[in-house]
Amino acid sequence: SVVQPLRTSLKIWYDQWGRDLPWRQTLDPYAIWISEIMLQQTQVKTVIPYYQRWLKRFPTLEVLAAADQQQVLKLWQGLGYYARARNLHRAAQIIVTEWGGRFPDTLDAVLQLPGVGKTTAGGILSAAFDQPVPILDGNVKRVLARLTALSVPPKRALLHLWLVSEQVLDPEYPRGFNQALMDLGATICLPKQPSCDRCPWSEFCQAYLLNLQTKLPMSEPR
Ligand code: ADE
Repeated sequence: SVVQPLRTSLKIWYDQWGRDLPWRQTLDPYAIWISEIMLQQTQVKTVIPYYQRWLKRFPTLEVLAAADQQQVLKLWQGLGYYARARNLHRAAQIIVTEWGGRFPDTLDAVLQLPGVGKTTAGGILSAAFDQPVPILDGNVKRVLARLTALSVPPKRALLHLWLVSEQVLDPEYPRGFNQALMDLGATICLPKQPSCDRCPWSEFCQAYLLNLQTKLPMSEPR
C-alpha cells in the first residue's frame, strides 16, 4: 500500500532517533494519562520534573482520588492551566467509582473523562494499550499538513488531517508510530527551519517535493 513506506521509514528513524522520555518507560495507563494531560499545553522539558514529582506524590489512581484538592493544586503550581489539575483529580474519582479503579481502555470511555479530548485519548490508548487510535496535536498537524501539501490552514481541514493521521497510523505498531510522529514534529519538522535533509519522510513529503516546506502549513486567517 502507498503508506507502507511511510510506516517503515518512520520506524527505522524512531529506533535510532526517538527521544527517551520518562513516560515511554511505562505501560501504566495512569502514568501515561498524567503525562498526556501535562503535555497538552506545556513543553516536554518543563513537564519532565513535574511528571516525576507527581508520580512520587500520587503513585496510583487511588492515591490521587483520595488526595484533597489543595495538595493536587500545590503539585501543579507553576504548570498553569489549573483546570487540568482539577480535571485529573475529578477523573481519578470517576475511574475509582465507575470503573473500580481500573483505567478504561475504550475510546468512548476515555473520551468521557474530564479533560480528555480526541488527541489525548489517542495518546493514552496507543501508548498504554497499543491500540490503533490516531493523534492530532499541534506538531502532528504541521507534519501532516506538509506531508499532504495542505492548501488551506489546518483549522479548515481538521477532518482531512484526522483521516490522514488514521490512514498513516501503523496498525502493527501503533504505540511506537504515534510517539515517533510526535518526535518527528518536535525535532525535525520544525515550524521555521525544518530539517528535511534528516527527515525519514522527505521523499514522500508533498511540501518538500514542491519546495513549499517553509510556506506550509498555511497560517490561520486573523
Ligand atoms: N506531546 C503529547 N504527548 C506526547 C508524548 N507522548 N511524547 C512527546 N510529546 C508529547
